[in-house]
Amino acid sequence: MCGIVGYVGKKNDALKVLIEGLEKLEYRGYDSAGIAFLDNNKIQIIKKQGKIKNLKQFLQNEKAKIGIGHTRWATHGFPNEINSHPHHCGKMTIVHNGIIENYNEIKKDLIDKGYVFQSETDTEVACALLDYIYNKTNDINITIQIFQNTVRGAYAIGLICDDDFENLYAIKKNSPLIIAKGEDENYIASDMPAILKFTNRFITLNNGDFAKINSHEIKVFNKNGTEIEKEVKKFEGDASSIDKNGYEHYMQKEIMEQPEVIKRTLNEYLTNNMDQLFKNMPNFSEYEKIHIVACGSAMHAGLIGKSLIEEYANIPVDVEIASEFRYKKLFLNEKSLVIAVSQSGETADTLAAVEIAKQHNADTLGIINVVGSSIARETDLVLYTKAGSEIAVATTKAYSAQTALLSLIALNIGQNNIDRGELKELLECIKKLPTQMEILLNNDKLYQEIAQTLYTQKDIFFIGRDIDYAIAMEGSLKLKEISYIHSEAYPAGELKHGTISLIEEGTPVIAVVTNKEIAEKTISNIKEVRSRGADVTLLTNTNCDVESDFYHHKIVIPTTHKLIQPLLTILPLQKISYEVAKLRGANIDQPKNLAKSVTVE
Ligand code: G6P
Repeated sequence: MCGIVGYVGKKNDALKVLIEGLEKLEYRGYDSAGIAFLDNNKIQIIKKQGKIKNLKQFLQNEKAKIGIGHTRWATHGFPNEINSHPHHCGKMTIVHNGIIENYNEIKKDLIDKGYVFQSETDTEVACALLDYIYNKTNDINITIQIFQNTVRGAYAIGLICDDDFENLYAIKKNSPLIIAKGEDENYIASDMPAILKFTNRFITLNNGDFAKINSHEIKVFNKNGTEIEKEVKKFEGDASSIDKNGYEHYMQKEIMEQPEVIKRTLNEYLTNNMDQLFKNMPNFSEYEKIHIVACGSAMHAGLIGKSLIEEYANIPVDVEIASEFRYKKLFLNEKSLVIAVSQSGETADTLAAVEIAKQHNADTLGIINVVGSSIARETDLVLYTKAGSEIAVATTKAYSAQTALLSLIALNIGQNNIDRGELKELLECIKKLPTQMEILLNNDKLYQEIAQTLYTQKDIFFIGRDIDYAIAMEGSLKLKEISYIHSEAYPAGELKHGTISLIEEGTPVIAVVTNKEIAEKTISNIKEVRSRGADVTLLTNTNCDVESDFYHHKIVIPTTHKLIQPLLTILPLQKISYEVAKLRGANIDQPKNLAKSVTVE
């Protein structure tokens, strides 16, 4: 997490670029922010606790030709000014995203050598180490190589050296960093949207690469210090994709974009020809076992994928939280496919899971949103979700696109198990899907009415079975992350084994029931909580709709083919979470303590 931006050039004002860039990167962390820039031949550093707008207030009319900026999601030490970046030591000033794992031993060593530290951060230690090496070598390229051989962990670093105000340096390992190319100016950034207003041409760095960048030249070196050629790529998205487009919040905009996103994602891989159903996607049917690794919402999408792949493709699937996958005994071989699902393509645990899978000779597939991201580059094959830039920390459209792609993988492997009649019906359902999604998304009055009954509550429960349980988990996560109301999702049949003791008069329970075959069982579980006083909101489809008095509110969504039903079911839950958070006056796009891209383990 944390966002980095850097500028060197003759055309723009570095401060303007840094502040605008940091504002676009705030989704990566927003505990504190800071910038360093060249002012009267001296580096000046300004940093403030809180968001970029706090930092902005302290800027006068300074202008600069070179600078680096940072927005922080605290890992080492409180989010106060001292711990904020940039850090300065001797002749070095740096911003850093990542974690230096062996910083404690390096720190002790540097203290013995006379260095004094102000902050609790690993970044100040990295800065001091760079300064120490530079004082010995007097050569920045060699300094960076020695630095890379000394530190362990993950880092994307922007560096300015007091002896060289013409150049900006970038160092990358396991944390995202791109270099963007302008005319008479160049940039570094954690993510392309930060500088998309200025240029759409960029260079990606591999792990271990570092770069020397001035206004007219970008030189990239590998970790041995050998200069390497890099392709300049063009970013596909445009600046408008990262604007709110008139919506109050990014999350609201991104929820509403879903019909288009799903259409785009499905059209990328699916044809209308039943004899040749797929394009841009190889056949995955040779695998004996599939493992889906992911974190957060991406893991919830994985749970839906598991259920659909097992049902349609007849292949056993394990879904693993990536941070757990890393530390357990694995039974992988060349007949295993490990699917890493990630919006950012940078989540540290998911990336590490891919590396481990490769060590075990498994094939790896990435379902990724951010083009060219670390996981996309690490996996043997990548299928991109076509969600576009997602800015709100709480994912909506990227989660739906992940779900859609996993459904396609179930179909890809299982297509021969489906008769042509059903296939035809599925394709018809897919055609109707965007319109159905739009209608569902525009039922604001009902969602607002339900939100009114929820926003003052302390605990909310979600229940469902099978895929509906996976959707309940995502609904519960969405609600708690943006509204800060405690909520839990339970498999409907499990609630009575303990948690039902928490149900009392008025406890809200949101029940998801869309699978006709198991609807009766879930309805019995709903009646169990209802008879203990629960206030039930039933989310169901036309297939399972029953007239009864066991709920207070009912949302009926269209019934569609099972492979794509989840893409409809989640929408009311996203909308309700949004409305609840709004009623509570919460910071919807940037909930406290969270970050969108979690590049620490
Ligand atoms: C963070 C985000 C979640 C996201 C998870 C995985 O925790 O707040 O919304 O689901 O990371 O992110 P990824 O980029 O790997 O999908």
